[in-house]
Amino acid sequence: MKRAADDPNVAAPSLDVKRLREDFPVLQRSVRGRPLVYLDSAATTQKPRAVIDAVARHYAEENANIHRGVHLLSELATTAYESAREKVRALLNAADVREIVFVRGTTEAINLVASSYGRGRVGSGDEVLITAMEHHSNIVPWQMLCEEMGARLRVAPIDDRGALDLEAFERLVGPRTKLVAVTHVSNALGTVNPVREIVAMSHARGVPVLLDGAQAVAHQTVDVQALGCDFYAFSGHKLFGPTGIGVLYGRAELLEAMPPWQGGGDMIASVTFEKTTYNVLPYKFEAGTPHIAGVIGLGAAIDYVQSVGLDRIAAWEDSLLAHGTALLEALPGVRLVGTAPDKAAVLSFVLDGVHAHDVGTILDQDGIAIRTGHHCAQPVMDRFGIPATARASLAFYNTLEELEALAAGLRKVAEVFA
Ligand code: ALA
Repeated sequence: MKRAADDPNVAAPSLDVKRLREDFPVLQRSVRGRPLVYLDSAATTQKPRAVIDAVARHYAEENANIHRGVHLLSELATTAYESAREKVRALLNAADVREIVFVRGTTEAINLVASSYGRGRVGSGDEVLITAMEHHSNIVPWQMLCEEMGARLRVAPIDDRGALDLEAFERLVGPRTKLVAVTHVSNALGTVNPVREIVAMSHARGVPVLLDGAQAVAHQTVDVQALGCDFYAFSGHKLFGPTGIGVLYGRAELLEAMPPWQGGGDMIASVTFEKTTYNVLPYKFEAGTPHIAGVIGLGAAIDYVQSVGLDRIAAWEDSLLAHGTALLEALPGVRLVGTAPDKAAVLSFVLDGVHAHDVGTILDQDGIAIRTGHHCAQPVMDRFGIPATARASLAFYNTLEELEALAAGLRKVAEVFA
């Protein structure tokens, strides 16, 4: 991401954060007698009133199953569900709503591709290429696939700052590579990957690319056609929407050729005991009653985030990142883990002589919520030779004052352990 905040001559972008915070009920509460300082948005983002209301309104006013009823409530629910699909399409600039499949989240989206696409195309001796900064959800499904098919998982290395070694990556895309699966933004390090180059390098060798967008969609504009990726996965709850709902974008040509991965209601065209034929896209991949309220809530989240403006969000978060980085770098004993030149607003760090869990527990006493541990990215921790980090992860509703509170809290932690 371009970082306007790196240049002191560039004024901080205008975003009325104080007012926008009022949209989030939970941000008004106190924790342990202190105002909540929520710095764990990479784990899950908070929900604006518009999302909470949309979910409640659905249950209160139009709850019914979709695609099945001739009655009014079913029609209303179906329209709301399908209009949310169009909102996702527009958010990602996908070419067609048929390319938007609702799933439980990023993890399920990746498992769907590993199972449906992978089993058909990855055979003995073939390779799947990932990177050393992946979340477990973009490692384990490929490991399972490779074990089953006798294929090999290859891992492109990262450097000491947590940036992808792009030359090594390119060398690893070979004649046996059947799929590349890479995170857009690292949850543990904040690294923003050069995904356009990754897609171009992979496509030059005829290899399709899946991008894990879980940490990207709430922080920058994503255009799947401009990126050229074949699959893109994200979770609603990391985009200010409900938990339990997510999206798999897939190019229609690929989705058409893929078999369904779960069987059941709604994914069929006709069923007899002799033969079942499948529904058209995207329903072929949406077996059973979906998370209707979740989809409607996700649609409201997309409306909300677009009303704030993803470009303005990205610019504000760049300012927060620059400020937070400077504050943490100035603290004795703090070492940032993940300092790639292109970074999202994630501050992973270790504090000399203090376990990350102790950092998190002490900060919590002051109402400051961060995540500690391996962040579901144990190989990243291994790469840096550490068991865990403390991680402050930001969203547009965070303020410079909250970062000052984090720094003050860390000074206190250091004193406790001095
Ligand atoms: N993947 C989420 C995180 O990074 C849960 O915290």
